[in-house]
Amino acid sequence: MKGVILAGGKGTRLYPLTRVINKHLLPVGQLPMIMHGINKLKEAGITSICIVTGKGSAGQFAELLGSGSEWGVALHYCIQDDAGGIAQALGLVESFVRPGESFVVILGDNLFEASLSPFIRAFRGKSGQAAVLLKEVEDPRRYGVPHLTNGRISRIEEKPEHPPSQYSVTGIYFYDDAVFEIIRSIHPSKRGELEITDVNNVYAARGTLSHHILEGWWMDAGTFESLAAVNGLVTSTGGAGK
Ligand code: DAU
Repeated sequence: MKGVILAGGKGTRLYPLTRVINKHLLPVGQLPMIMHGINKLKEAGITSICIVTGKGSAGQFAELLGSGSEWGVALHYCIQDDAGGIAQALGLVESFVRPGESFVVILGDNLFEASLSPFIRAFRGKSGQAAVLLKEVEDPRRYGVPHLTNGRISRIEEKPEHPPSQYSVTGIYFYDDAVFEIIRSIHPSKRGELEITDVNNVYAARGTLSHHILEGWWMDAGTFESLAAVNGLVTSTGGAGK
């Protein structure tokens, strides 16, 4: 199985911190944010990893991480010209994935404690399916939130005002190459982005979206509060990459 880390986007909620520096290069504990995702994949045995980022910061990622050999992984890079959404960024890795091959996707600003290994084992060989990881959160309104019907996700709502459950769909996803056809079939949302939630809703409508609950702490470090909180968690628990 291969790994993909999405590290594009504008990071506007962290301005001016991210006006010059890509969010995923900001420090979290003793490492730049992106390295926690790389460590999580490596720990789960995934060493072939594609990083998607914007053209303005690609050089800095290359300077930091190089080929990946120093970190025990093989890195590939894809450039997202404009921040057109998570699903657009994901569509760019099509040539990185072999026909029929499955892969795990991490949003680069998602940091978490648990190992990916059991989820990777559970997903291996499931063609035409997708899986997401859910986490119970206090205020789900800033996330994708699942409608759970008879223990299955029937639909996901992106940033709902009235959340249908207490869960966030985390930025950790499992797909195979069938996802690229789905990405081609979706349209930009009201905010002008190709939404990962629209992709996952195609699987949900087909009855091919499964989910697991993520144990341990999980954070989306996209705001000042969550970035500060995740720094505290990483420092006190010894690191998201361990
Ligand atoms: O963190 C989990 C949440 O992430 C999910 O619950 C939501 O369903 C999902 O849409 C996403 O919401 P955010 O509003 O937090 O997404 P954000 O725009 O902050 O982007 C998350 C990551 O995706 C970020 O690390 C960079 C990457 N990204 C984002 C965009 C818009 C890209 O690589 N390219 C992009 O164009």
